[in-house]
Amino acid sequence: MTETVMRGHGYYNTHSELQARTAVASDAALEDALQAVAIPPSGPIIIADFGCSQGRNSMRPMDRALTVIEGRAGAGREFMVVHIDQPGNDFASLFTLLDEDAASYRQGRPLVFGLAIGRSFYQPLLPAGSLTLGWSSIALHWLSRLPVALADHIWIPRGSAAERAAIAAVAAADWRAFLGHRMRELAPGGQLVLVLGAIDESGVSGLEALQDVANAALRGLVAEGRLAADRYAAMTIPSYPRTRAELEAPFRDGSLPGLRLDALEISAPPSPMAVRWAADRDDAAFADTMTGFFLAAFSPSLFGADTALDTAFAARLRAGVAASAADLARPITVGVLRVTRV
Ligand SMILES: C[S@@+](CC[C@H](N)C(=O)[O-])C[C@H]1O[C@@H](n2cnc3c(N)ncnc32)[C@H](O)[C@@H]1O
Repeated sequence: MTETVMRGHGYYNTHSELQARTAVASDAALEDALQAVAIPPSGPIIIADFGCSQGRNSMRPMDRALTVIEGRAGAGREFMVVHIDQPGNDFASLFTLLDEDAASYRQGRPLVFGLAIGRSFYQPLLPAGSLTLGWSSIALHWLSRLPVALADHIWIPRGSAAERAAIAAVAAADWRAFLGHRMRELAPGGQLVLVLGAIDESGVSGLEALQDVANAALRGLVAEGRLAADRYAAMTIPSYPRTRAELEAPFRDGSLPGLRLDALEISAPPSPMAVRWAADRDDAAFADTMTGFFLAAFSPSLFGADTALDTAFAARLRAGVAASAADLARPITVGVLRVTRV
């Protein structure tokens, strides 16, 4: 199985500021969706959070969604907020946060129930017509599987044309599968707001330079004999940032008649690490936070449970980042979509 969960024991929760600040790009789309969404006339109102990880970054958008929908639906309505991630996700951190953290959207909301599903979002997840609002942040670029490993790099946009073509076919099928299942699950007038890794018009994902440093660190470990060459050759991060054309494709060809793409924006919100570095030029602090970001998101895909290799890599990555902070202080490109179930 391709390992795409985040680093556990709450590590992702404390090293995902970049994802949280990048997802701010979707605030306007979320507000539009909250005004447009059809409120079910009776029964619990279901909101889904696809790719929740340990939940820290879901609290702000879920709180906002609940505030607006509570106001529109009137007093006394009950809600289910369903957090979805893979079976190997650190759900313990999510449940603890939901019950105990001051930032939890459940604080002061006895009629709001938070629950979780440990299953891929490329599978059916909810009863037909039951979903009012679907949200997903920085998750849908993760692929269901890799048909090929990159021979010379770990970051798919840096692969050869043939490698990228094989992986693009899986990415297209995944995107259609996700949207097709949600089409069945959304109630008429339901809304999806999705923010995911993307490629801008000049072909940039924003992570190329960081991934080059990471790739050089791994090659350094191979050269030192600390990482076997065949193990390096099998390492590829199963994350696929999509172009506008790829994001739009299933909406254009008539295969999703129940879904309407209302808005698609591709942008690169300021990275908090880059903003801090521009102000203080503190290369070491920048390297620490960028290394934490990288390990939280990508270490399980590369190293699994091999903590010794992870530690050796982290030291090289930190040094590489500190040496070229000016190049690496860049934002991440994201696509934001608002979709209506017609
Ligand atoms: C970078 S984290 C994003 C977490 C959070 N939404 C945020 O904005 O910080 C991506 C999450 O997507 C999850 N994920 C990846 N592929 C998935 C799949 N096929 N089904 C469900 N979750 C998946 C990962 O396990 C991970 O928790």
